[in-house]
Amino acid sequence: MRIAFIGDIVGRPGREMLKTYLSKIREEYKIDFVIANYENASHGFGLTLKNANELISYGVDVMSGGNHTWDKKDIIPLFDTHELLRPHNYPEGVPGTGCKTYELGGEKLAILNLMGHYAMPMSDNAFRCAQATVKSLHDDEVKNIFIDFHAEATSEKRAMMMLLQGEVSGIIGTHTHVSTDDFQIAQGTAYLSDIGLTGCRDNVIGMDEKVPLKQFLTGMKGHFDIPKKCKKILQIAIMDISEGKCSKAFKLKVFDNGTLIKTDAWMEE
Ligand SMILES: [Fe+2]
Ligand SMILES: [Fe+2]
Repeated sequence: MRIAFIGDIVGRPGREMLKTYLSKIREEYKIDFVIANYENASHGFGLTLKNANELISYGVDVMSGGNHTWDKKDIIPLFDTHELLRPHNYPEGVPGTGCKTYELGGEKLAILNLMGHYAMPMSDNAFRCAQATVKSLHDDEVKNIFIDFHAEATSEKRAMMMLLQGEVSGIIGTHTHVSTDDFQIAQGTAYLSDIGLTGCRDNVIGMDEKVPLKQFLTGMKGHFDIPKKCKKILQIAIMDISEGKCSKAFKLKVFDNGTLIKTDAWMEE
């Protein structure tokens, strides 16, 4: 199966990039299943019902979350009606789940959403949660497992890769909104520390630079906003996986002026 992953979709500019390009990319690259992170999809903070339906209509199959999952109140009922995840290591009793399994071309595929610890809300141990969940998926004969690891620190992301390489098909980081250049496949596990945002590319992590600049220059906090006009980017990772292993992976950066940059993941011996 060929799956694709899009990181933090930031506000309307991010949604517009999906509207313009996702169905074309799905068709051209023959993608079977698309996972996308929704945590900033609705004006930068959380997800509304309207925007959830919008993302699905553009070709997203399942949506993963992060620390901004709870920013819009109408998210909670959506866990019963939509293909939606929140980090699996939120404590017991929190609405929703962070792990769902799908049937695709005769094989099972599990999507697991986890949240890191550095500069993040209180949660259960991401590493222990990952270990236990992967073990229980393997016990249920689910081999293909993809993880959206929503974390600030690249060290936590690398550690998760060291813990699970050879055990899962892919681990891609989200949350920082800035893409890293370390897409690789090791022991059949595709890994990228952060895929980067889909949205405005010429501001500060997809937000209008005025507020963060004021904050950094004066120490006074403000409310981040989505720019009215900006240059946009869509970043998507595409992975061929079967029997639990990733055999090929590449990333596309699609710019709103039509430029496309394709980067292959390297294969570790
Ligand atoms: Fe984010
Ligand atoms: Fe986040």
